[in-house]
Amino acid sequence: MTIQLGDIAPDFTQESTDGPISFYEWAGDDWVVLFSHPKDFTPVCTTELGEVAKIKPEFDRRGIKIIGLSVDFLEDHNAWARDIEETQGVAVNFPLLADSDCTVSDLYGMIHPNADDTLTVRSVFVIDAAKKVRLIITYPASTGRNFAEILRAIDSLQLTDNYQVATPVDWHHGDEVIIMPSVSNQEARELFPGGWDEKKSYLRMVAQPNL
Ligand code: BEZ
Repeated sequence: MTIQLGDIAPDFTQESTDGPISFYEWAGDDWVVLFSHPKDFTPVCTTELGEVAKIKPEFDRRGIKIIGLSVDFLEDHNAWARDIEETQGVAVNFPLLADSDCTVSDLYGMIHPNADDTLTVRSVFVIDAAKKVRLIITYPASTGRNFAEILRAIDSLQLTDNYQVATPVDWHHGDEVIIMPSVSNQEARELFPGGWDEKKSYLRMVAQPNL
């Protein structure tokens, strides 16, 4: 099954380090970052999970729940979590799905057989409060992800939802943003009373609204 942007994220029930999780019920009205890693007791995954645990307050601040996954058993997750705390200096503070029967990885297409026919790749799904898939990123097993980039992309998505702006290349918090092309100049005058810099009729730069 291929999940694409705009699709409704499939619901599931699976074991996790926080007990059985029914996804929709667990997510509630929050956004979710669901991410897979290839295997427990592997080096890149160990660093990733430590980093996500360290920056979890950044996800909390944005109203986002985090949930990890690999096709391992619960006992392995629990033993590995102790290694992560020992080596990364932080306890894993979000649930890890023990997807040993591949329920979730199959539903979300996290196993790419031509890369590896049994292990998940490094998938990231950002799912909004309406359960709509808003961002999909796929990395190979040997490349650790940049979770600061995932936060940056979430900030962009939430700015678009709340203020009808898009974010330009390499945008970071505090930089100018772009008025969405779907917003007419008449609407823009109400939304951005301080005005904007119209470089072209389709390229209207404005200060980030929520500073
Ligand atoms: C890792 O997480 O370190 C890893 C997993 C599978 C292949 C290569 C690296």
